[in-house]
Amino acid sequence: VSGIRHPSEIEFPREEFTRCPYAFYEAMRREEPIYRIPGQDAFLVSRWEDIAYVAHHPELFSADAGEAAQGVSRDEMLARFGLTAGEADFTPLTFSRCDGAEHRAKRVLAAKLVSRERLAAVAPFVERTAHGLIDAFAGRGEVELVSEFSAPLPNLVICELLGMPQDRADLFMRISQGTPPGSVSRFIPPGEQTARRAQGDELREYIRSQVLDRYRHPRPDDFLSEFVAAHVERRGELDELLLTYLTSEASTLLFGGLVTTQHLITNTMWLLLRFPEEHRRVREDRSLIRPMLEESLRVEAPFYITEVRARQDTELAGVSVPAGASVYKIWPSGNHDAAKFDDPDTFRIGRPELAKTHLGFGRGAHLCVGAPLARLEGEIAFAALLDRLRDVRAAPQNTYEPIDTIAFRSLRELHLEFDP
Ligand code: HEM
Repeated sequence: VSGIRHPSEIEFPREEFTRCPYAFYEAMRREEPIYRIPGQDAFLVSRWEDIAYVAHHPELFSADAGEAAQGVSRDEMLARFGLTAGEADFTPLTFSRCDGAEHRAKRVLAAKLVSRERLAAVAPFVERTAHGLIDAFAGRGEVELVSEFSAPLPNLVICELLGMPQDRADLFMRISQGTPPGSVSRFIPPGEQTARRAQGDELREYIRSQVLDRYRHPRPDDFLSEFVAAHVERRGELDELLLTYLTSEASTLLFGGLVTTQHLITNTMWLLLRFPEEHRRVREDRSLIRPMLEESLRVEAPFYITEVRARQDTELAGVSVPAGASVYKIWPSGNHDAAKFDDPDTFRIGRPELAKTHLGFGRGAHLCVGAPLARLEGEIAFAALLDRLRDVRAAPQNTYEPIDTIAFRSLRELHLEFDP
């Protein structure tokens, strides 16, 4: 997509949108920053200020985006357990779909997965794994980065953190490489939805058995055992509602950071190839790895869209948004907003205060809970890649084909050549 005058010139979402959505975003920010998708009660929010406003006003915009977006409505979910909306203070919904006190209470317990102590304990594993993956291709002088490094690394790491067997990483990888479930499921073609649901059922059975196993046989120093125990203590027993919740939450923690972290690694390498001067700087000064990752999360944010729902009739930057309407926070559009970031399309390592202002990890109460893990993996991955591969360059066979989903942005493959 290039050189468009008005967002209505592009049907959202259409195939070429995934190739380069930035011109579409730019047209939205300029012409109609709160853009109503024609014929729908759905609004795309494109400017940094407005995205932040939506993210910081959960009393107006609920994270529970509803049935069309998420496959099952809150009411239906509660009805399965004989509950109604008013009386339920604990629901089987993952915290990414909850608001207020329920969101906070669930999030605090889940965030222990990435506590300082747990990350310090897992760091040597991340480093060993990164070097082990590089060992397999370092002598060849070429690599397809996505399949040989960016994808397997987060898979093996999350299995380690959740105490899942490493041989399951293969299965998780196959599932995570498909179109993701969650807040963008309304954009998944119906045929694919059926296949994904079947895969989801198989996976749910597996995670459920893991949760039950940690309940019956808690392990020492094990996140999942402690997570299950903490919830059982609060609720008093492991009933079907809690088991359903724990199974969904463990799946979200497992999958939330797989393709996202994969895309962070791939996109950052892609940016280094496109901006050789920045590549040279970070090779010469490894303290720039961390700011490089933040800038990568701004320029090529892996995670594209979060849907929320207007709780009441409201006004957003002068546009009337009716109760029940879908409101999409388009994170990468905010990240390219010239009103917030100077020269926004340029990858420039070391922008001041960037970690607090880019939208790569979202914003507000739902800011990515896994961000400390993603940062740790990114830092270790690039320290290893820069140390081990000299004179990295793009291989001639690259087509730079984007992945086929509007939920995420990255490349299917990235072939590199280097001096072994
Ligand atoms: C570079 C890697 C990552 C990116 C770009 C990313 C991006 C995001 C974004 C944009 C959100 C906000 C969604 C919203 O507003 O509803 C989010 C939330 C979330 N992320 Fe990540 N994420 C990454 C890594 C991870 C990891 C490693 C995990 C798990 C270990 C994870 C788990 C979650 C969860 C559970 C939420 C929901 C938080 C809440 O609702 O309070 N993410 N992520």
